[in-house]
Amino acid sequence: MSEAAKVALVTGAARGIGLATAKKFLSEGWSVGLLDIDGETLARAHEAIGAPGRTIALVADVAFPDQVERSVAALVARFGRLDALVNNAGTAVFKPALETTHEEWSRVLAVNLSGPFIATKAAAPHLARTRGAIVNISSISGARASTLRVAYGTSKAGLTHLTKQLAAELGELGVRVNAVAPGPVDTAMAKQVHSPAIRADYHDAIPLNRYGLEEEIAEAIYFLASDRASYVTGHTLACDGGFAATGIGLPTLRGRGR
Ligand SMILES: NC(=O)c1ccc[n+]([C@@H]2O[C@H](COP(=O)([O-])OP(=O)(O)OC[C@H]3O[C@@H](n4cnc5c(N)ncnc54)[C@H](O)[C@@H]3O)[C@@H](O)[C@H]2O)c1
Repeated sequence: MSEAAKVALVTGAARGIGLATAKKFLSEGWSVGLLDIDGETLARAHEAIGAPGRTIALVADVAFPDQVERSVAALVARFGRLDALVNNAGTAVFKPALETTHEEWSRVLAVNLSGPFIATKAAAPHLARTRGAIVNISSISGARASTLRVAYGTSKAGLTHLTKQLAAELGELGVRVNAVAPGPVDTAMAKQVHSPAIRADYHDAIPLNRYGLEEEIAEAIYFLASDRASYVTGHTLACDGGFAATGIGLPTLRGRGR
């Protein structure tokens, strides 16, 4: 199957990593469904992309099965097939554990963990037909705990495990399920929650000594969705400048080298 005739659905595609991912698939010749809860930003992004023949904008909240099912049906009605689902839509509440309300906890889990489950169920029959792939966007916060991330980090840890659960079962259908765990990327989400002090802490903890770019995360996502990763499933690929690989000592070493 030529990559040029393939179709991807990217959730949370109105901006940030999701928008960069949609553009990456388009640049490889795929058609793309851009799904987002924020209809206004989505409409602007859709128009700016300027490829109406190969894109469809789908307004939906990934936490609601009926909205996601309608979106998948509209995408397949338009392009006739589905080859990749990228579960990228996510939300963050960064607060001390004991100040996080039950509503905040529930919403973060509903979007970040239930959302990918819901979208997987809606997309799986179509992906089984094309022997397609799912890529879930987890986070370094799903692998290592840190302050203020009781809901966010737990949702992402759950998503990393959901990736394995789904790989175990969907392999029988020929569908691969993987995840990308980004480190910090300068998107609207990060700007909202990363203070100057936290930015400095991140630099200290990252061997490559910088934030990642949306496009760098999109490359990893595209690789896992494409046939180049045809024997990879159940894997979470860290795309984090080396954050997950390290322990203490980076700032000290850097100081010595200077
Ligand atoms: N930026 C980072 O540093 C970073 C690091 C690790 C992981 N991530 C993950 O990458 C993904 C994308 O993050 P980003 O930084 O581009 O964020 P972002 O906030 O810039 O973009 C997220 C998009 O998802 C949409 N969205 C939110 N809730 C939704 C819902 N319920 N239904 C449909 N769409 C919804 C938003 O409207 C937005 O367009 C998220 O899953 C996030 O957790 C981001």
